[in-house]
Amino acid sequence: MNIPQHVAIILDGNGRWAKSKGMPRSYGHAQGAKNLEKICRDAWNIGIKYLTVYLFSTENWKRSKDEVDSLMKLFRSYTKTCMKTARDNNMKVRVIGDPAAFDTDLQESLKELERSSAGNTGLNFQIALNYGSRDEITRAVRAIARESVAGLLNADEITEECVSDHLDTAGIPDPDLLIRTSGEERLSNYLLWQLAYTEFYFCDVPWPAFKKKDLLAAIEDYNDRDRRYGGRKES
Ligand code: IPE
Ligand code: IPE
Ligand code: MG
Repeated sequence: MNIPQHVAIILDGNGRWAKSKGMPRSYGHAQGAKNLEKICRDAWNIGIKYLTVYLFSTENWKRSKDEVDSLMKLFRSYTKTCMKTARDNNMKVRVIGDPAAFDTDLQESLKELERSSAGNTGLNFQIALNYGSRDEITRAVRAIARESVAGLLNADEITEECVSDHLDTAGIPDPDLLIRTSGEERLSNYLLWQLAYTEFYFCDVPWPAFKKKDLLAAIEDYNDRDRRYGGRKES
């Protein structure tokens, strides 16, 4: 089987999954975070080298205060758990998105998580927190404009590569496969630039119930695809 080098996941359906069990949405998020730990290990064992997951979007601040508060609490504990998992499993963690909107203590823990795992050589694990593609591209354009005004970059040097290098994902290969769980079929402002030639896979399983077998099913489906990059396929 051809294993995609980079898998991106929009882990969706925590709330609906909890509701179906008569539980509060916060329970769904907590179980979703636990599941993520497992899927990280499974992904590495399968042979995936890069895993990028969407944990909180720039639009998710619009949820109720209660839900946002419980998510922030969860991110605090998840960051600690992830520090341990990164150490035990040799995972290199990188945060994409703009953490500036988070409380200082959470920002510090996230930096520490990146710092402490920077030398690891196992799974490259990207977590998207306060991430939105439009925000990411806007910040990149701003950074490029600043360099240009400072005389470091002229207009002709602003190539696709230059734009990529100013995104939060600089240096990370584009995803080969995108998975969205829980039946929704939209991108919700995720990796719009990076997904230009990615294969998409949508499944009905809600994120907390998504298991290794579901990941394998996505990879099998990916294997049946006839990947193209604009060129006509030679037969
Ligand atoms: C995904 O689950 C997790 C986050 C967006 C934080 P949802 O919270 O979106 O769950 P549903 O889609 O409402 O079921
Ligand atoms: C996308 O899921 C964001 C994350 C998974 C973090 P949402 O559930 O927030 O997206 P919409 O609102 O259904 O588009
Ligand atoms: Mg959702």
